[in-house]
Amino acid sequence: MKLYELFINGKKITTASKEAVSDKVTGEPFAQICTAGEKEVTMAVDAAQTAFENITLAPYKRYEILMQAANNMMARQQEFAETLAMEAGKAINDAMGEIARSYQTLILSAEEAKRRTGEMVPIQGAPGCEKRMAYTKRMPLGVVAAITPFNFPVNLACHKIGPALAAGNTVVYKPASATPLTASLLCDAFADAGLPAGFLNLIMGKGSFIGDLLAKDSRIKMFSFTGSVPVGKALQQAAGFRRVALELGSNSANIVHEDVEDVAKIAKLCAKYAFVNAGQVCISCQRVYVHKNIYKQFCEAAVEFAKTLHLGKPLDKATDIGPMIAEKEAIRIEEWVKEAAEAGAEVLIGGNRSGSFFEPTILVNTKPDMKVISKETFAPVFSIMPYDDIAEAIAAVNNSNYGLQAGVFTKSLPIAHICAEKIEAGGVIINDGSTFRMDNMPYGGVKDSGIGREGPEYAVRELTEEKLIVFNFG
Ligand code: SIN
Repeated sequence: MKLYELFINGKKITTASKEAVSDKVTGEPFAQICTAGEKEVTMAVDAAQTAFENITLAPYKRYEILMQAANNMMARQQEFAETLAMEAGKAINDAMGEIARSYQTLILSAEEAKRRTGEMVPIQGAPGCEKRMAYTKRMPLGVVAAITPFNFPVNLACHKIGPALAAGNTVVYKPASATPLTASLLCDAFADAGLPAGFLNLIMGKGSFIGDLLAKDSRIKMFSFTGSVPVGKALQQAAGFRRVALELGSNSANIVHEDVEDVAKIAKLCAKYAFVNAGQVCISCQRVYVHKNIYKQFCEAAVEFAKTLHLGKPLDKATDIGPMIAEKEAIRIEEWVKEAAEAGAEVLIGGNRSGSFFEPTILVNTKPDMKVISKETFAPVFSIMPYDDIAEAIAAVNNSNYGLQAGVFTKSLPIAHICAEKIEAGGVIINDGSTFRMDNMPYGGVKDSGIGREGPEYAVRELTEEKLIVFNFG
């Protein structure tokens, strides 16, 4: 079984303590990782702090290293994708797509290394400053903890590491316990690109144990975390005055108005967005509010699309949907769907589990307080609900603790505008679904969906401190 080691201060580190990584279909171990104890966590922060204090990489050098790391990763796209498919259960075609996106994310980050500027402060606009000038400069923060999730383990890591390095920070990287293997490949790509020792340090192991240690270490100046709401909230409390960027998921909603031209096409798109990556996407199309005049047609087309999807092994090219990340997650969603059905929901298609696989499932007649509506399903399950007027649909969308992204389909400019203004979310996508994301967009939520924005340009703002400099020539 292949062993993946920690990467600290430019070196692979073996530890006595090991953990297996399981095949998400069979549950059988297929690889092993070394896990970090307190000693290794301290070593990683020491290395990151020392590198930050002693080595300054000029912006053009950061650009070159990030570009080279992107190229190194892309040169090994197949290996990255196969490893990703195995560790996450992600269908290989989607895994190849994720590596292509990760490549873009690193390139976008590289470009930000060159663009980081401050601004002139026109202090002479007030009396008494005739012989002074002022400007701001965006300074790196220091050591950043990048704590990443299992659902897009490579791209979301690139979204944290790329901008952090572009801004001149150093990084301690903790991947999700379920998907640590591509993290090791990513560190190789950076090391081979000439990133100096200490700039990127990989520690693997139990999330809460490592998270607690990192939170207690005051040398960590920012926590960039994607994951669950309870962990995000705990991290924010532990961080005190230190910075946090938290992306905590959603039960994303979409509105399909009666004036759309091609109802079937939109129904298929929403279903595709609901089922991709077995629904384990923070902006998955979980709730769809469809105008009552096109509701029946929409439901029929969504079901027809769901019938075409092939559940299978992640490495099989014919697979559309792989297993969920763990059997316990498939059992959880099975229970939620059963509970909804017992309370009056109708299962139009799907609803069945086999091991860690859950069928693409479409529900109707759901109620706002059912778990499949009010919580984040993070599973290939979505609900279609009819509405009468747009105000009612917007109120239903906003009846949520979350607000990451929403989608609105309509030909009406006034309706699109009202939705854009009134929907409580970090992003409103007009004429595409909530799941649409380009990696240079600002990405982040309101309410329990979190704090801060990713997307390299926006992340760099959060990963730097705007420092004021005043010159007195008097
Ligand atoms: C996420 O699940 O938050 C990431 C979605 C994406 O990048 O497409």
